[in-house]
Amino acid sequence: MKHAAVSKETATAGCTRRDDFPVFADPGLVYLDSAASAQKPAVVLDAMRAFDATSYANIHRGVYALSERATAAYEGARGKVRGFLHADADREIVFTRGATEAVNLVANSFARPRLGPGDEILITHLEHHANIVPWQMVCAETGAQLRVAPINDRGDLDLDEFAALLGTHTRLVAFAHVSNALGTVNPVREMTALAHARGVPVLVDGAQAVPHLPVDVQDLDCDFYVFSGHKLYGPTGIGALYAKWEHLESMPPWQGGGDMILSVSFDKTIYAEAPRKFEAGTPNITGAVGLGAAIDYLTAIGWPAITAHEEDLEAYAEPQLAAIEGLRLIGTPAVRAGLFSFVMDGIHPHDVGTFLAADNIAVRSGHHCAQPVMERFGVPATTRASLGLYNTRADVDALVSALKRMKEFFAA
Ligand code: ALA
Repeated sequence: MKHAAVSKETATAGCTRRDDFPVFADPGLVYLDSAASAQKPAVVLDAMRAFDATSYANIHRGVYALSERATAAYEGARGKVRGFLHADADREIVFTRGATEAVNLVANSFARPRLGPGDEILITHLEHHANIVPWQMVCAETGAQLRVAPINDRGDLDLDEFAALLGTHTRLVAFAHVSNALGTVNPVREMTALAHARGVPVLVDGAQAVPHLPVDVQDLDCDFYVFSGHKLYGPTGIGALYAKWEHLESMPPWQGGGDMILSVSFDKTIYAEAPRKFEAGTPNITGAVGLGAAIDYLTAIGWPAITAHEEDLEAYAEPQLAAIEGLRLIGTPAVRAGLFSFVMDGIHPHDVGTFLAADNIAVRSGHHCAQPVMERFGVPATTRASLGLYNTRADVDALVSALKRMKEFFAA
């Protein structure tokens, strides 16, 4: 099968940020998979390369200049994450491998010691597996139970049911800020207030939120907030956990090793204070530097420009996708951020993805690590087109036109 190529002019029309990203040296690339991993701007790649070339050494250990520079860069990146999330203090930011490891840290270090038979953890039907499986594991070990707040046919949380499920046995609530499968934006402040009214701490999975909307953890008042660098135009293998200091102070370390101790003997080990207590071993130093550079990049663009760009693309895309005969949007939430999931009558999502790939259009087809969401909508998988700073109306046009051609192709 032959598909029309997207011309350079069309692919870059109206874009203000596309040129910041070296991957678009391929002029025909229509990248609509930022919810899986966003592309990196040159400033992030350059920052990591410059750091590795001029300032790289292990951190917190050397008294020589290189190590001191590396430590300053790593701790400087922690400060950037604090500023980005509007946390109160750098010590409330723990570097992790990503959002998944951050959830596992809280499950093991905060939840597990506090849980017993009869206790409950409340999540929602919208969750990514990373915000389901760690809680299932800790429930299996402690005899606690996982409760799930339902969503409606639009993919919005049923807030009344959520409130009703918050009971005297609830010990923790965990939910996504933005659903990776549907794009639903949850009312985090309201949900957190409901949980806090019952004295229940709250973890927010912000992996899909941080690229699209400003986050102020003090305003949200959540107890924990997790995210990954690679969805934020930064590198893989780095992410962060924000936690209120009172929690971090009370939590035992999860992993043991170097750099998380004050002293070790065979009789007794004294741990360092948080956040170092939770960063055993040599961390992803260059990754932290890259994450810091990504935050600087986004900060320089500013949220008004970022949200205006994405709102424009969403408003442009949604009616055009919805108008394609045989296309069903999975999730039509009241507030959407950054992505569209859909199925096509009679065409498997994997075939949709393959057809689009032949046009150099990158989307994700599958269950998106959110199988319960798929099951809720009665589909095995969806095709997901997700947006980033570099996308343009021309990208949306390319997607819509390819989907229409695909329908004709499969009908023939
Ligand atoms: N969690 C990533 C996604 O939603 C990989 O695609």
